[in-house]
Amino acid sequence: MLTFALSLSILHLITSTTSDASPPYTPTDYFLLNCGSSSSSTSADNRTWDGDAQWKFSPPNIANTSSPSTAEEQNPAVTQVPFMTARLFPSQFTYTFPVSIGPKFLRLYFYPATSSGRDNSKFFFSVTAGNHTLLTNFSAFLTSTGTVPHTTFPHQRKQPLTIDNTTALETLYRLNVGGNLVSGNDDTGMYRIWRQDDPYIYGQGFGLTPHRDVTIRYTSDTPAYIAPATVYTTSRTMGIDVSVNLNYNLTWIFAVDSGFRYLFRLHFCEILPEVTRVNQRVFTVFLNNQTADPEVDVIQLSGDNGVPIFKDYVVWVPLGDGRRSKQDLWLELYPNMDTKPEYTDAILNGLEIFKLNQSDGSLAGPNPELVVGTTPEAPYLKSPEKEDSGASPPVLAVRRVRDSGQSVAKSSWVPISVTAGTSTSTKTNASSLPSDLCRHFSISEIRSATRNFTDELMIGIGGFGNVYKGYIDDGATTVAIKRLDSKSNQGAREFQTEIGMLSKLRHLHLVSLIGYCDDDGEMILVYDYMANGTLRDHLYKTENPSLSWKNRLQICLGVARGLHYLHTGTKHMIIHRDVKSTNILLDDKWVAKISDLGLSKMGPNNVAQTHVTTIVKGSFGYMDHEYFRYQQLTEKSDVYSFGVVLLEVLCARPVIVTELPPEQVSLAVWGRYCLQNGTVDQIVDPHLTGQIAPECLRKFGEIVDSCLHDKGIQRPTMSDVVWGLEFAMQLQDVCGWILDWD
Ligand SMILES: *[C@@H]1O[C@H](CO)[C@@H](O)[C@H](O)[C@H]1NC(C)=O
Ligand SMILES: *[C@@H]1O[C@H](CO)[C@@H](O)[C@H](O)[C@H]1NC(C)=O
Ligand SMILES: *[C@@H]1O[C@H](CO)[C@@H](O)[C@H](O)[C@H]1NC(C)=O
Ligand SMILES: *[C@@H]1O[C@H](CO)[C@@H](O)[C@H](O)[C@H]1NC(C)=O
Ligand SMILES: *[C@@H]1O[C@H](CO)[C@@H](O)[C@H](O)[C@H]1NC(C)=O
Ligand SMILES: *[C@@H]1O[C@H](CO)[C@@H](O)[C@H](O)[C@H]1NC(C)=O
Ligand SMILES: *[C@@H]1O[C@H](CO)[C@@H](O)[C@H](O)[C@H]1NC(C)=O
Ligand SMILES: *[C@@H]1O[C@H](CO)[C@@H](O)[C@H](O)[C@H]1NC(C)=O
Ligand SMILES: *[C@@H]1O[C@H](CO)[C@@H](O)[C@H](O)[C@H]1NC(C)=O
Ligand SMILES: *[C@@H]1O[C@H](CO)[C@@H](O)[C@H](O)[C@H]1NC(C)=O
Ligand SMILES: *[C@@H]1O[C@H](CO)[C@@H](O)[C@H](O)[C@H]1NC(C)=O
Ligand SMILES: *[C@@H]1O[C@H](CO)[C@@H](O)[C@H](O)[C@H]1NC(C)=O
Repeated sequence: MLTFALSLSILHLITSTTSDASPPYTPTDYFLLNCGSSSSSTSADNRTWDGDAQWKFSPPNIANTSSPSTAEEQNPAVTQVPFMTARLFPSQFTYTFPVSIGPKFLRLYFYPATSSGRDNSKFFFSVTAGNHTLLTNFSAFLTSTGTVPHTTFPHQRKQPLTIDNTTALETLYRLNVGGNLVSGNDDTGMYRIWRQDDPYIYGQGFGLTPHRDVTIRYTSDTPAYIAPATVYTTSRTMGIDVSVNLNYNLTWIFAVDSGFRYLFRLHFCEILPEVTRVNQRVFTVFLNNQTADPEVDVIQLSGDNGVPIFKDYVVWVPLGDGRRSKQDLWLELYPNMDTKPEYTDAILNGLEIFKLNQSDGSLAGPNPELVVGTTPEAPYLKSPEKEDSGASPPVLAVRRVRDSGQSVAKSSWVPISVTAGTSTSTKTNASSLPSDLCRHFSISEIRSATRNFTDELMIGIGGFGNVYKGYIDDGATTVAIKRLDSKSNQGAREFQTEIGMLSKLRHLHLVSLIGYCDDDGEMILVYDYMANGTLRDHLYKTENPSLSWKNRLQICLGVARGLHYLHTGTKHMIIHRDVKSTNILLDDKWVAKISDLGLSKMGPNNVAQTHVTTIVKGSFGYMDHEYFRYQQLTEKSDVYSFGVVLLEVLCARPVIVTELPPEQVSLAVWGRYCLQNGTVDQIVDPHLTGQIAPECLRKFGEIVDSCLHDKGIQRPTMSDVVWGLEFAMQLQDVCGWILDWD
């Protein structure tokens, strides 16, 4: 039996007058138990945990009936407390918590690492609390993250189904819609994690992500502990184009277990200064293709701009055809024009989805199927309490890799609908590399995939080594195989960084690492194959046909989203350090993927330290002055490099051309000069003549100029850039449409 660390607190329903000093939420009863530990310890967020061996409420026979265990892998990226110790129970065991009457939060933490010579990944067990079955036949290994129950009894709302004190809820999704990851520390004292919503957006209708630095005014109906202010100051809306908005639903899709009811809590707040009155923005909410709410007018419900509200909906997901344990739940928003509102738009700021217990009190669902290639976010992080890299794979971008018995990705609570794949076996390989995080290939597999590294399959040559196109799994999967020069020291470090980083990160706009090979001193990385090569291959010095402006904008927006994810989708910011057009790859659908994280660095992770001092690496022509000169690296260095990429895309010329007159040699310098001089049209790629709507070019130029600002602090965040590019794209659509009309 595997055990868990546990935290329990009581929801405090009295609205307190909050001062800056105390968080909005203060539990009345509070237990933090570090299972398997005999002393008290402090976690990274400075909370003190009691060791359960000495805990005053532990049963006296705890030492006879269970045994403590310490994880063998001391992964520095995992917060030590409470993950590094566990308690193992060979038979049923009960912890008793003396609590006052009222609703409770319960968080269980699992980290199925190998400990004391035992492979904890093989344990299956059940957990009950009161009359509620929280988990049955549970495998922390299979589940890894996320479905760790966090049960709560939220206070009652007016709704058809009363959620009374017999009901237990499990948190499935908690999203800061249109915003960044909010880590436990930055929550309201409840230590919840609010993730990004992009991975759950369906289709191309991403809308816009407006955000505004307004003071959120909480009320007695929506007290401050309901959600932190950052959830309300960021949002996702449909966009500026009325005709486009009338033709799509803003849609999110979530995978859930069949046979349960789900509570959707939608958080709303109008933040844009122009929306202050009733009947300006009215929309319909659909859940699973049914109208859940025909008419939501946030100002009508909240009374004012900057005042947050939330609405709860319950939806029943019936058992499927008996084979599929998981089903997709659809949430859709669509403008409601019945009352002739001023705008044709919809908005959402935050979203929580809870699973409600079945009538027998159970919350337990079947184990997720283990599917290769659906690596969860940060597989070694086993609880929502611990940071992780945020997003799981986008619903529509699931890579399916046929398993051939290699060590496979530790799956996953991943909210994607997976059909039962081929059954897989797993094994742990005690190597310094995280073989459990991505697939390990033998050198003979690599040789057969690349026909022994034949030149015919070589698709790239670089200072680091060669890149080959290869075929694995009996030719079923095409991959890109990068063979690093094993003589280079820097190569070895970059090899480790690349595996360490990429195996934890999954995003539509990051290239996916499938696996690696380190046999015979080789350093080989295996990636998804990107059919259309690098972005540069489509800009200049190329035979390829010229890309359309729309296509270029899509690619830039994709890259911006990928960088935004690196900077904010994980608790510890990741700075890429080598953003350039040859590190941006394109798949067969022209989706942009950021590659080459080998140089990347974890950013500063405390507020006082705002930069990382480092030896300058990166590519000439893309590096900003502050970094180059003072070796001070911040995420704004990536913003600068991205600004240079935007200019490359606009002008289709190399970033450095030494043959040109001195003022024109550097694209960054020359481009910014022309932007400020109002002569940017003279440097635009001639192939784009007549394609760019003037409003769009103006916005695009504004973004480039701001990204290239000398002072990092003055440059926008990637979140601002994403929003700016979304806006530019909409301007192109609207104005382009008008141009076409003419
Ligand atoms: C934890 O406490 C230490 C020492 O008081 C402090 O330096 C650190 O910033 C705190 N960390 C957090 C996450 O609050
Ligand atoms: C637990 O062990 C102690 C001594 O170590 C012994 O006195 C006690 O009877 C044991 N209890 C059970 C339930 O085995
Ligand atoms: C559990 O169920 C029993 C019988 O249905 C009931 O008497 C008891 O009060 C319940 N306990 C809790 C904590 O709800
Ligand atoms: C549950 O609610 C009922 C009525 O609302 C109340 O009588 C009962 O004491 C509550 N039980 C607990 C355990 O809070
Ligand atoms: C909702 O509609 C979509 C698109 O038409 C469809 O794929 C999906 O299966 C529907 N969901 C349900 C629960 O009917
Ligand atoms: C939006 O979703 C609803 C419910 O699924 C569906 O009936 C409607 O056709 C959708 N509208 C558009 C424009 O896709
Ligand atoms: C949850 O379980 C309790 C029994 O523990 C039951 O009374 C209640 O109706 C269940 N809630 C739902 C929504 O089925
Ligand atoms: C427990 O879960 C495992 C993995 O999903 C499954 O193979 C097994 O059949 C389950 N056992 C029971 C008793 O449901
Ligand atoms: C671990 O990987 C090596 C190759 O790197 C292989 O020879 C060995 O058999 C593997 N061990 C296990 C337990 O799979
Ligand atoms: C592959 O090439 C290496 C040297 O390039 C050679 O030593 C080896 O025999 C070749 N293996 C096969 C299977 O052809
Ligand atoms: C881009 O990808 C598509 C689909 O694989 C392919 O047909 C096309 O030839 C590629 N274009 C280039 C220039 O590589
Ligand atoms: C700057 O703008 C002025 C006025 O539009 C123009 O005459 C001049 O040529 C521009 N300078 C350069 C270097 O393009």
